[in-house]
Amino acid sequence: MTSIEKDYVLGHEEAELARLEHQAGILAPATEAILRMAGLAPGMRVLDLGTGLGDVAFAAAGIVGPAGEVVGIDQSRAVVARARSRAEERGLDNVGFEVGDVGTWHDGSRFDAVVGRLILLYCPDQPAVIRHHAASLAPGGVYVAMEYDMPACRNEPPTPLAESARGWFLDAFRRGGMNPTLGLRLDALLRAAGLSTPVVAGMTRAVPGETDGSRMLAGIVTTMLPLIVRTGVADEAEIDVDTLGERLAAEMVGSLVVPPTLVGAWAVTPR
Ligand SMILES: C[S@@+](CC[C@H](N)C(=O)[O-])C[C@H]1O[C@@H](n2cnc3c(N)ncnc32)[C@H](O)[C@@H]1O
Repeated sequence: MTSIEKDYVLGHEEAELARLEHQAGILAPATEAILRMAGLAPGMRVLDLGTGLGDVAFAAAGIVGPAGEVVGIDQSRAVVARARSRAEERGLDNVGFEVGDVGTWHDGSRFDAVVGRLILLYCPDQPAVIRHHAASLAPGGVYVAMEYDMPACRNEPPTPLAESARGWFLDAFRRGGMNPTLGLRLDALLRAAGLSTPVVAGMTRAVPGETDGSRMLAGIVTTMLPLIVRTGVADEAEIDVDTLGERLAAEMVGSLVVPPTLVGAWAVTPR
């Protein structure tokens, strides 16, 4: 673990990396649509903040094509190593990954787009991060932030354990000082960072409760268990994390899950 990594609440255990990969599959269509609406195009140079396993960087690489380039940065060496090997597996040679803190990293070069999905939530001074990277945009470059509106998630028909699980992770984020409705604050954050007239769009893709929906819910509760317990939201006995996924899947047969809305907000710098 690098010294900047110690405060990252979700950690980088193997189960968390599997959760991120599963989540990235579900978010892929919304992410691609947001990147295209924001104006990513062939030939651009793109910076991906808090890249994790690299899924947003890969989506951007597909759009910018061989004439473009994508750089993904993450504070975790282990995650960056994994992102590099995933890029190799995909035969992508227009994507590179670097270890760095999004609060301070820059390499002195210009980007046509700076993107970041599910990263500002973990940054204490969000306008400062946006301002820092907007400064490396070329004239007419675009800043694209994507964060969740988490309370928007639900399942229909509702089921009791899913309702509890939803409450556990939402309350833990709040008590841990992170805003679960950050997606709806992106317009204000981009403006606070000096960017003007952001465009905002929210998207989600419904998934079956007995498979992807219960897996997503159990996954986030499992990852957040230490924070849920530490902040007094619920105790381990009540959650019974080892059987949570199974119980949710059984309860949610035939229930459709609307995962948290992915909100994209983007703004273009003056030419
Ligand atoms: C929830 S994951 C999202 C990963 C990816 N953007 C995605 O949407 O699949 C957040 C990532 O941000 C990274 N991260 C958190 N704080 C960071 C910081 N200050 N600097 C760089 N990376 C950071 C974490 O290591 C983690 O990989």
